[in-house]
Amino acid sequence: MLVSAKEMLEKARDGKYAVGQFNINNLEWTKSILLTAEELKSPVILGVSEGAGKYMTGFKTVSAMVKAMIEELGITVPVALHLDHGTYEGCYKCIEAGFSSIMFDGSHYPIEENVAKTKELIKICEEKGMSLEAEVGSIGGEEDGVVGLGECADPAECKQVADLGVTMLAAGIGNIHGQYPENWPGLRFDVLEAIKKEVGDMPLVLHGGTGIPEDMIKKAISLGVAKINVNTECQLSFAAATRKYIEAGKDLQGKGFDPRKLLAPGAEAIKETVKEKMELFGSVGKA
Ligand code: 13P
Repeated sequence: MLVSAKEMLEKARDGKYAVGQFNINNLEWTKSILLTAEELKSPVILGVSEGAGKYMTGFKTVSAMVKAMIEELGITVPVALHLDHGTYEGCYKCIEAGFSSIMFDGSHYPIEENVAKTKELIKICEEKGMSLEAEVGSIGGEEDGVVGLGECADPAECKQVADLGVTMLAAGIGNIHGQYPENWPGLRFDVLEAIKKEVGDMPLVLHGGTGIPEDMIKKAISLGVAKINVNTECQLSFAAATRKYIEAGKDLQGKGFDPRKLLAPGAEAIKETVKEKMELFGSVGKA
């Protein structure tokens, strides 16, 4: 069932768990994530970066694939199809392509411009029954060409954006896309608490879910995080399983080179990673 992320995130906030956003790259990714969500009876958000959208030949292809897959696989759990770190132009393309949710990443604009553009997009999303994620303070590291310095969000600016009526708010609290460096000092829970105080019951989004220790994930959820984004971890588990298959020479045995066989271990590995995260985030059985 393709839905906006609003209801699932409000339920997660009230139930003190988080819904996972898992980024997709192709058919295998999408299938693995949808089947795991259905098996575990968990709501799920499929994240699509602009780079991944382009790779899959465009947002219309992605939207058509996801909708058809939900139907053909008989997926009954709530699924949101969400643009990740969208540009202003990208948001309009996804609205047109039939996504159910978008993130407008205006964090690199001066706050006035971020507010003006977010406001405009809220209006359209409301008309279309879509959810909208906004960002204040940037997420460190790099994801698909989106580079952030990782500065923590200003709680007063978070309030300003939350008050516009966005569905969910991503606020930088020392989190980083990709793998965390050895010397990473950890999430800034003091900043998260200050933000929470300002934004009330607005569901908060934690980007850079890969490699955050379990105790920090649990604490973040207890402080108002209702959506956690994971991308790199699925890529790493897919790559490791594929490497193992090839290094064992399995592609050279019989018809082991058949893409349905070659990609199967990676697809299974994604399922395992998604399962672990859903269990950790507490969304299992919440659909
Ligand atoms: P990771 O790649 O670090 O898991 O981050 C994912 C993310 O935040 C997508 O926006």
